[in-house]
Amino acid sequence: MNHFINIADLSKSDLRTIINVGKKRKSERGQKSHSQPDTDQPLQGKTMVMIFEKTSTRTRISFDLAVKQLGGSSIILNRDEIHYGKGDETIKDTAKVLSQYADIIMIRTDSHKNVDEFKKHLDIPVINGLTNEGHPCQVMSDILTFEELKGNIKDRTIAWIGDGNNVSNSFIEAATKFDFNLKIASPKKYQPNSKVIKLAKKNNCKLLITEDPFEAASEADCIMTDKWISMSDKGDKNKKKKILKKYQVNNKLLKVAKSDVIFMHCLPASREEEVTSEVMDGKKSVVWLQAFNRIHAQKSIIEWCIK
Ligand code: CP
Ligand code: NVA
Repeated sequence: MNHFINIADLSKSDLRTIINVGKKRKSERGQKSHSQPDTDQPLQGKTMVMIFEKTSTRTRISFDLAVKQLGGSSIILNRDEIHYGKGDETIKDTAKVLSQYADIIMIRTDSHKNVDEFKKHLDIPVINGLTNEGHPCQVMSDILTFEELKGNIKDRTIAWIGDGNNVSNSFIEAATKFDFNLKIASPKKYQPNSKVIKLAKKNNCKLLITEDPFEAASEADCIMTDKWISMSDKGDKNKKKKILKKYQVNNKLLKVAKSDVIFMHCLPASREEEVTSEVMDGKKSVVWLQAFNRIHAQKSIIEWCIK
């Protein structure tokens, strides 16, 4: 069994296998309806428990469909419906109980430490469905989407514009493993996690960090951004939005990228803040395919975890 917590924890070859298996399963499904299982049903008789300490649309539904398509069943628990979420049972005790009821856990939590604590006490695999530090399922899914549209991501250039948040941290880890160029434009105050940057540099990641969005976007194959205020952000939100104002992804910024650049956003988006509607709804935007592909990347992550 394997845990899927940080992209940095996995080998290059396991990460490549996850992407390839995800693509293969997607193409082999053909015209099957959303809930119809794949022929081999590798999750038959197995249950995934999903814990959400924070809100979610895509992760919740795409994981539910992923489990169904693999032939298994899922139970979704929200923070207010479980003892651990309200703080009247330890993670250790919850983990020991869940190990007897389920075959795999997915958790979305405010604190990355909670996932590590679950891992310590679980006898079954745990998947990180977003923490304050990372969103590895999103990034694996975005790599699958990039490759579906543009071919192998190796040596291609991805530009991250705006807040240096959990999703950008996972992208930095992915750039080292998948060997792509990553150019991040963020204001000094809102750069990605310094420990993640340090590790990437140590591992010869092709990473550029700049304060200039045009420098990052220049000649990019893909431009991406995310909300300026993430779910776990606690500081002065208006002040942060003001500082990030010049990092909006708009048509002027897209013009300096390659002519066939694609635009990605993990969603949810705050339209007219980090991205204009013109870009979100424009020809270069692949945001709906990104959301759809969460199902396919996550099926492969689940399979890798339970093997
Ligand atoms: N991108 C993503 O994880 O979306 P949700 O917050 O809706 O799950
Ligand atoms: N950075 C965002 C991602 C949402 C999917 C957040 O953490 O709120």
